[in-house]
Amino acid sequence: MFPNKRLRRLRGSSSLRDLVRETQLSPDDFIFPIFITHGKNIKREISPMPGIFQFSVDLLEEEITELLEIGIKGVLLFGIPSVKDELGTDAYSDNGIIQQAIKKIRSVSQQLIIISDICLCEYTDHGHCGVLENFTVDNDKTLSLLSEMALSHAAVGSDIIAPSAMMDGQVKSIRSALDNANMHSTPIMSYSAKYASSFYGPFRVAAESEPKFGDRKSYQMDPGNIREAMLEISQDIEEGADIVMIKPALAFLDVIAKVRNTFDLPIAAFNTSGEYSMLKAASQNNWINGPNVMKELLTSIKRSGSDLIISYHSKEIIKLLNEKYS
Ligand code: PBG
Ligand code: ZN
Repeated sequence: MFPNKRLRRLRGSSSLRDLVRETQLSPDDFIFPIFITHGKNIKREISPMPGIFQFSVDLLEEEITELLEIGIKGVLLFGIPSVKDELGTDAYSDNGIIQQAIKKIRSVSQQLIIISDICLCEYTDHGHCGVLENFTVDNDKTLSLLSEMALSHAAVGSDIIAPSAMMDGQVKSIRSALDNANMHSTPIMSYSAKYASSFYGPFRVAAESEPKFGDRKSYQMDPGNIREAMLEISQDIEEGADIVMIKPALAFLDVIAKVRNTFDLPIAAFNTSGEYSMLKAASQNNWINGPNVMKELLTSIKRSGSDLIISYHSKEIIKLLNEKYS
């Protein structure tokens, strides 16, 4: 005890602090989400998400080249199709928006990890994540469409399939569809504990996917629940998930920590659009130091136990981390 023990001894210089720091962010931790829209020559900034754009397929090459130069390992794709319909047909059509984007990205790079978000809300005219039956989402009818979507993305070169519709049995259904098509090696990163969160607001502007009526509370999780998150996660692992995700990240760090203490497979955390927008708004007003707060928040996500971080800050943080060593 004091005075023999003085915890300040190891805080005396920045080199000492560097030596004993427990949690380090690495460029390898980050995945960057990209919004791909129909049309030509489009690079459109998303108003609640400064610095984040919708791209048309023809402008993707430039963006991907920049990401490769920065040294990013993976991207997560979201699509805005030209036509939305009741069954979200574009999601599993051979010439769908994401199918085009995957082919384009593959032609630019073999190395970049392409992750496909598998959900129907960006493709349905009603904006819900699955097929409607009497104004509610029908779980079992949705499963076969999600599997079709996953197969269609994997067939053109997606590296990781990421089901995000929160339908029961979606991992099992997609795993067996992939296996039947001889794609045993394609991993599934499941949005296992995805909460019905208001942090997705800016994303729904970006992806034009706001539900036309009601909300997602009958399929996404209630924010008060952590035991239920453990059930979702263990079920997804049993169904064949290779990576499990918790989403959003910052308001659910306790969930990430508990999952880390219970399971040994890789954990992904989704640092969502609303988390990004809040930081940007405060930073643009000079109310906080944006880069410092960004680093502190991302460090908290890693410290809580995440292995992968999906973040709109990925470019900025990797540049910041790279500066330190240059
Ligand atoms: C699709 C999906 C959403 C997000 C990722 N995949 C939106 C939603 O469920 O409404 C949110 C991502 C973000 O807020 O950054 N279901
Ligand atoms: Zn959805």
